[in-house]
Amino acid sequence: MSAGLLRSHTCGELRKEHVGNEVTLCGWVNKYRDLGSLHFIDIRDRYGLTQLGFEQFKGDLTILKQCALESVIKAKGIVRERPSDALNKNMETGEVEVQVVELEVLSRCDIDNLPFLPHGQVESTEDLKLKYRYLDLRTEKLQNVLKMRSKVMHDTRNALYDEGFTEVETPILYKSTPEGARDYVVPSRVHPNHVYALPQSPQTLKQLLMIGGTDKYFQLCRCFRDEDLRHDRQPEFTQIDIEVSFATPEYIKALVEKTLGSLFEIDNLKIPSMSFQEAMSRYGSDKPDVRFGLEHIILTDLFVDSEFAVLSKPAKEGGMVKAFFVPEDVKSFSRKETDAFVDVVKPHGGKGVAFFKVKDGQRSAGISKFITDEIFAKIEERAAGNEKGDGTWLFFADTDEDTVHSCADALRRHLGHSLDLLGDENKFLWVYDFPLFEYSQKEGRLAARHHPFTMPKEEHLDMYLEGGVDNWKKCLANAYDVVCNGYELGGGSIRIHRNDIQSTMFKALEMSEEDTQKQFGFFLEALKYGVPPHGGLAFGLDRIIMIMCKTESIRDVIAFPKTNSATDLMSASPSVPAQAQLDELHMNWQKK
Ligand code: AMO
Repeated sequence: MSAGLLRSHTCGELRKEHVGNEVTLCGWVNKYRDLGSLHFIDIRDRYGLTQLGFEQFKGDLTILKQCALESVIKAKGIVRERPSDALNKNMETGEVEVQVVELEVLSRCDIDNLPFLPHGQVESTEDLKLKYRYLDLRTEKLQNVLKMRSKVMHDTRNALYDEGFTEVETPILYKSTPEGARDYVVPSRVHPNHVYALPQSPQTLKQLLMIGGTDKYFQLCRCFRDEDLRHDRQPEFTQIDIEVSFATPEYIKALVEKTLGSLFEIDNLKIPSMSFQEAMSRYGSDKPDVRFGLEHIILTDLFVDSEFAVLSKPAKEGGMVKAFFVPEDVKSFSRKETDAFVDVVKPHGGKGVAFFKVKDGQRSAGISKFITDEIFAKIEERAAGNEKGDGTWLFFADTDEDTVHSCADALRRHLGHSLDLLGDENKFLWVYDFPLFEYSQKEGRLAARHHPFTMPKEEHLDMYLEGGVDNWKKCLANAYDVVCNGYELGGGSIRIHRNDIQSTMFKALEMSEEDTQKQFGFFLEALKYGVPPHGGLAFGLDRIIMIMCKTESIRDVIAFPKTNSATDLMSASPSVPAQAQLDELHMNWQKK
């Protein structure tokens, strides 16, 4: 539909059947060629490119001098079939061109100062692209991402409306909603010395909607978390947030499989499940990338009496020894390559990666002299399927189990990528049976592994209510994560719907009575007035789009993303507030 627009067609629309039509195109100057007597412009918009010719142009051709690249022009003319020697198969409109009759420059581009050409040959730096995001957005790649993102949001809404869900918006100016990160806070002008917190997720709000009788809720919501940023984390991001009254985990899982199946266009998607314990021991991660092998095996017991202290010390002192095997036909490593593995594990607390090689049953190199026939036989016995034979065994050991898991996971992922083992298929996985708590070394107390509204597993409820740190440490959560290609795509649980269970949770987290009342008193009270048992889940929308677009950076799928230090380079935000604004907010800042 073009009535009411300055153009009659888009720049990607014209074909042979339009030959002879009078058309008007609007767009950016993508390319200009001056062949002396002949002039051509390729005009571009988000739909494509069309060649403009000027043989029939009645006006003053000096206007073309104003048509610097990236200027916005309006061209009226007649569609003409291109001569056979001028057809361009690489252009969807390549069989035709528009012979321009009238040309208007709608906005001239200051080409001398243009920071970079969005469609230029020279790749500009990431920072420059973020600073001038509106220029980078002109690329086909980013426009396609926005389009895909919009389609996923549209399809999600349709799928959930079809299941009887109601979309409800929840407040952004709210109160702390703990999801394991720090809050972004907003000072109140009306209430001196008081702040709102931006929601880390609408977790308590969606539960209050259940208490309010909403039954099936969803929202495409913005969440705000002040945490260390990574390639798949932004300080503000979007969730597809879902909550259902009277739901079992089976209901939520079936709903997720149906929704993801329709988004990823997979018929009858059934996602396999793996317990947290199994995921940790086989992959060293609660979000394993199951697109490739290189599975870990735990070998701690084999090295208790070893002469090789690097393995025996952790084995003896309650730590862990893990290994995985890289078959020779996947890769035969040089000494330089095995030496370089230390750089992969160092950021995860690892000091190195021990190894030995196997060829025709003979062991050599690295730590081979410490691998007796008996130990080797046991290693091969524990190795999965074809993950043994000729190749290299890689070893990870530490007195801290978590360090072993994360180093082995890091090297496994690194090799999966660098050895091109990932394949094209997206591999989904449910991970379940998470511990309800984890011990926070930093705070010296238990912390909720998901969030503090997660129901313990039914069989652990008595032990949980009986209390005590040792009991709480043993409790598993009625929670489930959905993982894809090594990303945590979504997480959810059955929620606590009883006041006593929720109060015990705050006690286990060592929150004082006063803090509990201040932060969650209203919520605990709501749990007294008739609560349907309920459960739900939230997907990270940005991560879904990352997987669909096959990109490794979350910034690629957000229109205006922030850097890893949570700044917006385009608007130079955050910025120093004006004194008047601080005064209005009753804030007295000390200059640093
Ligand atoms: P959780 O904290 O696991 O659960 O978040 C759910 C999903 O949100 C995505 N996600 C992020 N995406 C980008 N940047 C971030 N900083 C970021 N943090 C999380 C992930 C994650 O799986 N209220 C619960 C959900 C529930 O229990 O229903 C919650 O927020 O894809």
